[in-house]
Amino acid sequence: MTSKVSIGIIGSGGIAAAHAQAYLSFPDVEIIGVSDIIPGKAQSFIDQQGIEGAIACDSVEELLALDIEAVSVCTPNVAHHSASVEALQAGKHVLVEKPLAVTLDQGIDMVKTAKNNDKILSVGFQPRYDPNMKAVKELINSGKLGDVYYMQAGGGRRRGMPGGTFINKELAGAGAMADIGCYSLDLVLNALNYPKPLTVSAYTSSLFGTNPAYHPEADKFDVEDFGVAMVRLEGGKVLNFKISWAMHMDSLGPTLFLGTDAGLKLTPAGNGPWSGVWDGGIGSIELFHDLNNHHVETSIPVQEHSIDIFREKVRDFVTAVKEGKSAPIPAEEILINQAIIDGIIRSSELGREMEINIPEI
Ligand SMILES: NC(=O)c1ccc[n+]([C@@H]2O[C@H](COP(=O)([O-])OP(=O)(O)OC[C@H]3O[C@@H](n4cnc5c(N)ncnc54)[C@H](O)[C@@H]3O)[C@@H](O)[C@H]2O)c1
Repeated sequence: MTSKVSIGIIGSGGIAAAHAQAYLSFPDVEIIGVSDIIPGKAQSFIDQQGIEGAIACDSVEELLALDIEAVSVCTPNVAHHSASVEALQAGKHVLVEKPLAVTLDQGIDMVKTAKNNDKILSVGFQPRYDPNMKAVKELINSGKLGDVYYMQAGGGRRRGMPGGTFINKELAGAGAMADIGCYSLDLVLNALNYPKPLTVSAYTSSLFGTNPAYHPEADKFDVEDFGVAMVRLEGGKVLNFKISWAMHMDSLGPTLFLGTDAGLKLTPAGNGPWSGVWDGGIGSIELFHDLNNHHVETSIPVQEHSIDIFREKVRDFVTAVKEGKSAPIPAEEILINQAIIDGIIRSSELGREMEINIPEI
């Protein structure tokens, strides 16, 4: 009898390799099967990744029929919903890659299905395991900032537009907002324990992606490569969120938290075209405060990346499955993140402020 946690991987592309290598590094985990819709791809993946004894499947159904407890969903965004719902209905726990889904409605359905089947649905935000992200959350929750009323989140790549499924609205849902914006939103909203969003007013554009001088697939590009949004949150708080895949600028500014007693500033570790704080690349953390009319700034030491944050996220999921715990990064919380992205796309299309409604599940 084995006490190993039995795993399946759905989708065998780029990020699936990181999941596979993390699972393979744990002695108490066994990868039982891998599926991909491209015939033969799952078998090549198994061979390339050195996953001994795993079964290659050409469909999700085939994989779910195997004796597995949990799956990683590593498909393009468009299939997160169907793969997760099918897996949950088959009684498997799910670690789904970010972003949660393509639409808010899909996200709601996924959360309902997890609840109805009493299974874990966790979302793959590995920056949560970055020690600096944890330090930021602890600092804000310590109350040192007082009441945090304003957040400035996001940032941007100067040049960093992906291609393929990432630039197709039907398959990805949204562009930069969903791809890297979901991380930035998670950074600030998780630090504040995910306050509920009320309204959003947004602008998005695709001036770089649709220009052949900047993107080789310009004729297929139909998502946003830049966006800015003002999001009103419960408790009298406001979020100014901006993100870019491409722009003629080195940065869209730091990530800021303004509180009634102090302010917090995060700057990226690098100033290169791909740098940002959203993926754990924090260069500096500074606390600005005034005590007895003396201006004080405190630099908080940035911690080195001594741990593999991707492996930590997979480990935490496995532990939750093994020990019957709740989801480490619960999808019901990330619904808020999805609702904001969904609201941004709607607001930008209609050119006006939109209400954000998330039903109780
Ligand atoms: N956490 C991270 O750091 C990180 C990094 C990159 C990508 N991602 C996310 O991971 C997901 C996948 O990205 P990727 O870069 O690996 O994409 P990819 O295109 O390299 O791989 C996706 C694979 O899924 C397969 N597939 C598509 N539909 C399927 C279905 N219904 N069932 C089974 N397989 C299916 C495709 O054939 C492909 O092999 C995206 O949602 C992306 O946002 C996360």
